Amino acid sequence: MHVMMGMGMGMDRQKPKRPVTRATLLRILAFFKPYARYAWGVLLTVVVMAALGVLPAYIVRAIFDNALNPAHPDGNLLDWLVIGFVAAPIISGLIGVWQNYLGVMMGQKVMFDLRNSLYSHLQRLSLRFFTSTRTGEVISRVVNDVNGVQDVVTGTFTSILSNVLTLIVTAVAMFTIDWRLSLLSLCTLPLLIYPTLLVGRARYRISKDTQARFATMSQILQETLSISGIVLVKSFMRQGYEVARFSKENADLMRLQIRGRMVGRWFFMLIGLFTAVAPALVYWFGGHEVIGGRMSIGDILAFTALVTRLFMPVTTLLSVNTDVQSSLALFDRIFEYLDEKPDIVERTSSITPAQPAQRAEFSHVGFSYADGNRPALVDISFTMEPGTVTALVGPSGAGKTTITYLLPRLYDATEGQLCIDGYDVRDLSFKWLGDQIGIVTQETFLFNASVRDNLRYGKTDANDDELIAAAKQAQIHDLIASMPNGYDTIVGERGYKLSGGEKQRIAIARVILKDPRILILDEATSALDSHSEAAVQAALANLMQGRTSLVIAHRLSTILSADQILFVQDGRIAEHGSHAQLLAAEGLYSQLYERQFRNAQGKFSALPAAIGSNGHTPMPVAHD
Ligand SMILES: Nc1ncnc2c1ncn2[C@@H]1O[C@H](COP(=O)(O)OP(=O)(O)OP(=O)(O)O)[C@@H](O)[C@H]1O
Ligand SMILES: [Mg+2]
Repeated sequence: MHVMMGMGMGMDRQKPKRPVTRATLLRILAFFKPYARYAWGVLLTVVVMAALGVLPAYIVRAIFDNALNPAHPDGNLLDWLVIGFVAAPIISGLIGVWQNYLGVMMGQKVMFDLRNSLYSHLQRLSLRFFTSTRTGEVISRVVNDVNGVQDVVTGTFTSILSNVLTLIVTAVAMFTIDWRLSLLSLCTLPLLIYPTLLVGRARYRISKDTQARFATMSQILQETLSISGIVLVKSFMRQGYEVARFSKENADLMRLQIRGRMVGRWFFMLIGLFTAVAPALVYWFGGHEVIGGRMSIGDILAFTALVTRLFMPVTTLLSVNTDVQSSLALFDRIFEYLDEKPDIVERTSSITPAQPAQRAEFSHVGFSYADGNRPALVDISFTMEPGTVTALVGPSGAGKTTITYLLPRLYDATEGQLCIDGYDVRDLSFKWLGDQIGIVTQETFLFNASVRDNLRYGKTDANDDELIAAAKQAQIHDLIASMPNGYDTIVGERGYKLSGGEKQRIAIARVILKDPRILILDEATSALDSHSEAAVQAALANLMQGRTSLVIAHRLSTILSADQILFVQDGRIAEHGSHAQLLAAEGLYSQLYERQFRNAQGKFSALPAAIGSNGHTPMPVAHD
């Protein structure tokens, strides 16, 4: 189980494997309910086709016993019977097409609903879910598992229905012809049952293993063929290792698939044997009856036609159990995500303040990650006054990023309270909260779309003038304008076609367009060249202008411009004050400052080469 339950719900995080229950079945049915008319249609076609399937047997009997009866042969009847003999499968085939259409419609509509509800549900889940789930796994469930639903409908559902009906109709037809012969033929069936079950079980096991292998293989592909992955592989010269790892997985997969494809072969040979044995029994027993004058030739011919129709449904129905099991597992995996409760929800009576946000306040806030063995934050209290900059400084792993998660409710505080203008953030409407807060993350994420579309993510209806104004403020307009396609340039996956500093400035422009009142900024730790650094600094200054900002500061300039500095250590605010106050206190902050910035002061421009050359501090960043 990769999925963790949300915390604060008082539930086991280790979910037991859910037994397939009636509840699951009812739930599956509920998804099909809106499309019940298709199901009834399928049922109708199945009944008609089952009936049409036994018709030829009766026609054969009529041909031999009536049309070709030596006592009074009837050429006209023969013509009609032969026409009927040909027409039955043609009509059945046409109905089959209709049945297929109904099945496809039902399956696709249910899939459409499932995909939509799954995706919108996933969008509602909190960050907690995604940090504890493999991305590949989530994608695979939305794409592959939902796709399996079509097979359930057109395969399992229709197959069970039509085979059960074929079996019943055929058996009834057999008994109407001769009950002793029927019993005799049915006696041969159990011989089929055991090998069928055996093969079914083996196949199920192999297909499960195969699925698991495929999952591992796609995991390898996803990781190693992504851009960051391939850079890592190349830079560590691990191509050979990766190829070997892939090749091993591939070999296992091949062996499994070969076994999977061969495991049924012996069994088909057995079926072939049975399809010969059963008619032989009919010829032998029925033949003696004919000789004794108790049965007609037509009866025998009709009977053999019927007997051969028994095997397919029997073998299919015996193996259908495994299909049903896999289908249920499929739905179970989908339901598992649908059951994942969003742990951060909007109150039904949420508040939408009339004024834009001004002041934010943390009071005695505590927070623990669900799987953390110690609290990530303890007793955090501070106030962000309107228009001020609050800088978070401290060692790696101290909890700075975690603090920034709480205000926009990416996580909810487990203790204490966060307020914006006196309202608890948990009482505010999502829309209002989302509009008020803008976030620039440490690692910039861009969609693989044009610069224009990426910028518009901040404001969907922004016109070109607004885009350009924002880009200018973010110091990125000149660069965009100089690109051959300008604002239509496609940035590449995650923005890989742009440099780190360029991506950052596009992200800044994106937030400028959004124009939030509260700004959360996780300053990038990566050092840029002096030119980009100056541009990013200017962009940030423009961005913070007139907003209430919470900044994880790595740049000296940002720290110096902050109205208050919080020195965070081990999840607590160890020191709190202005730069001057903290220096005067000669505590942790002043030590950090001495260590990191002293030598760079005066010529600070985040130019690592230049700073490194003076033989001291190699990086003008607070830590990391
Ligand atoms: N999703 C998570 N699940 C469990 N623990 C986490 C999770 N994210 C972070 N932590 C832990 O919480 C603590 C604080 O992490 P946080 O990311 O807030 O540190 P930080 O101060 O931002 O560090 P850095 O400067 O390196 O970015 C760390 O001990 C970290 O291991
Ligand atoms: Mg961090």
